[in-house]
Amino acid sequence: MKHSDLDLHSRGQARFVDDLPEPEGLLHAVVLASSVAHGRIKGLDTEKAKQYRGVRAVLSAADIPGSNQIGTLVADEPLLAEDTVDYVGQPVALVLAGSEAAARAALPCIKLEIEELPAVLDPRQAQEQGELIIPPRTFCLGEVEAVWQRCDVIIEGRVDSGAQEHLYLETQGSLAVPGERGSVRVISSTQSPTGVQRVIARILGLAMHQVEVEVTRLGGAFGGKEDQATAWAALAALGAVRCAAPVKLVLHRHEDMVYTGKRHPYSSDYRIGMSANGQVLAYEVEFYQNAGAAADLSPAILERTLFHCTGSYFVPNVKATAYCCRTNIAPNTAFRGFGGPQGMFVIEAALFKAAAALGVSPAELQEKNLLKEGDTFPYGMAAVRCSAPICWQEAKSRYDYEKSQARVEAFNSTHRLHKKGLALMPVCFGISFTNTVLNQGGALVHVYTDGSVSVSTGAVEMGQGVKYKILEVAARVFSIDRGRIKVESTSTMRVANTSPTAASTGADLNGKATEIACRAILKRIKEAAIKELGQKDPAKAEIRNEQIFYDGEKTNLNWDRLIPRVYTQRVNLSAQAHYATPGIYFDKAKEKGEPFAYHAYGTALCEVTLDCLRGTYEVDAVKAVHDLGPSLVPQVDLGQAEGGIVQGIGWLTLEEVLYSEEGRLLTGTLSTYKVPDIYQTPKELEVHFLENTENPLGLFHSKAIGEPPLMYGIGVYYALLAAIQAFRPQADLPVVAPMTPERVLMTLYRDRLAGLRGFNPRSRKTVSP
Ligand code: MOS
Repeated sequence: MKHSDLDLHSRGQARFVDDLPEPEGLLHAVVLASSVAHGRIKGLDTEKAKQYRGVRAVLSAADIPGSNQIGTLVADEPLLAEDTVDYVGQPVALVLAGSEAAARAALPCIKLEIEELPAVLDPRQAQEQGELIIPPRTFCLGEVEAVWQRCDVIIEGRVDSGAQEHLYLETQGSLAVPGERGSVRVISSTQSPTGVQRVIARILGLAMHQVEVEVTRLGGAFGGKEDQATAWAALAALGAVRCAAPVKLVLHRHEDMVYTGKRHPYSSDYRIGMSANGQVLAYEVEFYQNAGAAADLSPAILERTLFHCTGSYFVPNVKATAYCCRTNIAPNTAFRGFGGPQGMFVIEAALFKAAAALGVSPAELQEKNLLKEGDTFPYGMAAVRCSAPICWQEAKSRYDYEKSQARVEAFNSTHRLHKKGLALMPVCFGISFTNTVLNQGGALVHVYTDGSVSVSTGAVEMGQGVKYKILEVAARVFSIDRGRIKVESTSTMRVANTSPTAASTGADLNGKATEIACRAILKRIKEAAIKELGQKDPAKAEIRNEQIFYDGEKTNLNWDRLIPRVYTQRVNLSAQAHYATPGIYFDKAKEKGEPFAYHAYGTALCEVTLDCLRGTYEVDAVKAVHDLGPSLVPQVDLGQAEGGIVQGIGWLTLEEVLYSEEGRLLTGTLSTYKVPDIYQTPKELEVHFLENTENPLGLFHSKAIGEPPLMYGIGVYYALLAAIQAFRPQADLPVVAPMTPERVLMTLYRDRLAGLRGFNPRSRKTVSP
């Protein structure tokens, strides 16, 4: 791909926080974290550590000049623990030394005395004990209570989905450099430069204009740096200001895995009612979200679970309740899909079970209840330009669903110890931040006198390719060579009050702002051009591939010659612009509104082959038809779709986060936590972008791509369940994710294993909350 950072990445020349040249007098910071899941701090003695050779300072809560509070949605999270510790990995103190080795060596010299308190890891237990971060929320449509007696079939069940480690390649980190008059400049690996700026100002008691946060690129984020990059940036800034020296804080992989939160595990109960012909009449669901020890973004994530609780289906009567449960593990946080996948996973379970009860295939039920134009979502919005049915039909025909089904059935009837499973997975995902205020973006564009262009926006490049979409926008508006355009780092000084680059909205919001800014400059350029040409009507001036045309006729002006003349005319060649998504709102009192600019739709066909002797499996295929509108940069969109699918498969199959009963993470290394590699990538991975589709509210009519494809991974789970069912047709299969090969084996031989006396599947007691 041209004009990308690929050459930098492949040569190891792309700089991340830890690669930056080290400023003179740099101090290295290391965190002392709680090793206890819940307790009262009885004593913290840092004197001996302060005496350690090379140590400059040891800071604790008492050293924070401003307010010791980093909570974004709820003020419930200290930067450094004060009276209690609430999870293993919670920062308690910060050691600053001339070398990282010295700082680490001094850590054991700190005496931290904690009186242990009972720890709660299970969200249902937390809910029973009243440990809720916000009051429960309920979305209702129609009247479920009135409908149950009209249902021919009612199925109830429980569904559990596990956590997921972000495992961004670049761990959390920050470099803070103190400036004049107490100001500080921070390079942070964050999706939310403004969020980091705001919290640092609060922690240090500074005005926001005294804090500059800059981001060049992140080595991955996936939501894990939307809120959780903040603590490390704030700690580095605290150290820098207290010691009047530059400070770097970069977490080691194991620290990162233990200290930071993950995708929320959910435990859910559902009840689904349908008519004998498979029409879903009512759906009731309760979600227990394991939020961890502080709110972080959990309430917003909980909300998105509710928004997506009916998946790609129309259900006329819905009651969905969600509990945001406080437990003693690291605060869980944003992760690609932001609670949506957890909600969709449950309704797919309900349909899978209902299909078995009705003696039909899940696909038949899915198709019968699929969203169509004008259907109402439980939050009151109608599905418009609903491409769910067309994606579904096109996936079925393009990928030969009927034939595949026959082939799988034939395979299963001729193989005893190997079974195949097939599943269709429709995805519907609302695009916009559900927190309406965040739906704004900004851009600052300069055209320099040599005709080169500089674009700054609020969007953070994290490997998702937003930078190339922004570049594409500027290139299209100006109609100039892409090589002339540079998309700059993201800085709070150039673009202020930015929303996090999240919710798949980075390109839409910041790209639209870029488009507005470029159009404003282009208008001035055209006005200047007609003066140069001795013409009258700027509307007749046009730039095509750097050449200036007037009234359709080629002129002697091109971009190179024109821009210096525009400058000579003393015309402003810079513009700042702001974009706010029109028409969206949400009324939390009624739980109704139009929270999304639009929805992304698609359907994937998933196929797996299971080894029923070993429990191992292969993902044969994931083939999707995805409605993306006209793609702005197809390579970027394809990369996002493929990566999202594999990450979704990882969440529900291999990636298992386990804690000890004392709340210690047992899967904090890459030898104990398995992410998908090339062998778990579907052997056939295909994404077809739906043709002839338009999205007036998207960037050049395209649609956001970051999150929706992850949810095709849910189809792989249900394909696995179908394969297990082919081996054990009579069993009532539990719906628990991730479906690791170990869990497959346990599920296949559940009855027999239960009969073995003293059988314990794990030598060590573990908890997957
Ligand atoms: Mo994203 S999960 O909205 O940071």
